[in-house]
Amino acid sequence: MNNIGQEFWQRTKYQHLSESDENKEIAPPARTLEPAASEVFSLTEPENLDLPEKSTDEAIISRRSRRSFQDTPLTKSEISALLYHTQGIKQKLPGEKSLRTVPSAGARHALETFIYLHKTADFPRGLYHYRAENHELALLRQDNLLAEVYQGVLQQKFIRQAGAVFFWATDIYRMAWRYSERAYRYVLLDAGHVCQNLYLLGEVLNIGVCAIAAYNDDYLNDFLNLDGDKQFVVYAAAAGSRKKS
Ligand SMILES: Cc1cc2nc3c(=O)[nH]c(=O)nc-3n(C[C@H](O)[C@H](O)[C@H](O)COP(=O)(O)O)c2cc1C
Repeated sequence: MNNIGQEFWQRTKYQHLSESDENKEIAPPARTLEPAASEVFSLTEPENLDLPEKSTDEAIISRRSRRSFQDTPLTKSEISALLYHTQGIKQKLPGEKSLRTVPSAGARHALETFIYLHKTADFPRGLYHYRAENHELALLRQDNLLAEVYQGVLQQKFIRQAGAVFFWATDIYRMAWRYSERAYRYVLLDAGHVCQNLYLLGEVLNIGVCAIAAYNDDYLNDFLNLDGDKQFVVYAAAAGSRKKS
């Protein structure tokens, strides 16, 4: 084996996987994380989102990674739409299962969304966790945390103009319970779908989006109060208004 990447790929082939806990009839883990919050904010309900008309084709073709943002604050409705279309629950199924606005291997939905809101008039500036179950935002830390976010994303300059920064973290056992080691592939694939929806909805709402995978894992996990082992960041993205104030 030449390197860890190749080894990972080989050893996560189906024939090498450990027997899953699901197969051993071990009870499944909780379907959501609920970090302690000082305040919880309701979001605009999906049926009340008034989205501009844009064809799927137009959104796909016009999509770019955008690294330049205006100061126009993101509205509650825009933030609600971005969260709902990236991780929102469309349908609750028996046994705590759900169908969301994105696909997920085995509908395990092992991602959690954290969002740092920097430019918005409708929420206090700070770090939030998206409670998909109730479509609401839980405030974890109210402060200007831009310096920490900037450090976390390896000082990529454009982050300093962003209105919001998304962090997608996995609660890996939720996926590994069924797929054992292969779960590490699946959460990354799931995250790709999530970020693509963010890009496309950004095009519809005139909000620029740029995916971010260049980040300091340990720093960001600490920032989000994740242990880095069972729960850890897999992907991030900056978003910001393209409209002039
Ligand atoms: C997995 C992934 C990680 C990325 N990470 C970063 C990043 O850390 N910083 C950045 O500025 N752009 C990042 N990008 C954006 C790419 O640079 C961009 O998609 C690419 O240059 C093509 O440009 P386009 O998205 O405008 O088509 C990332 C994109 C992907 C898909």
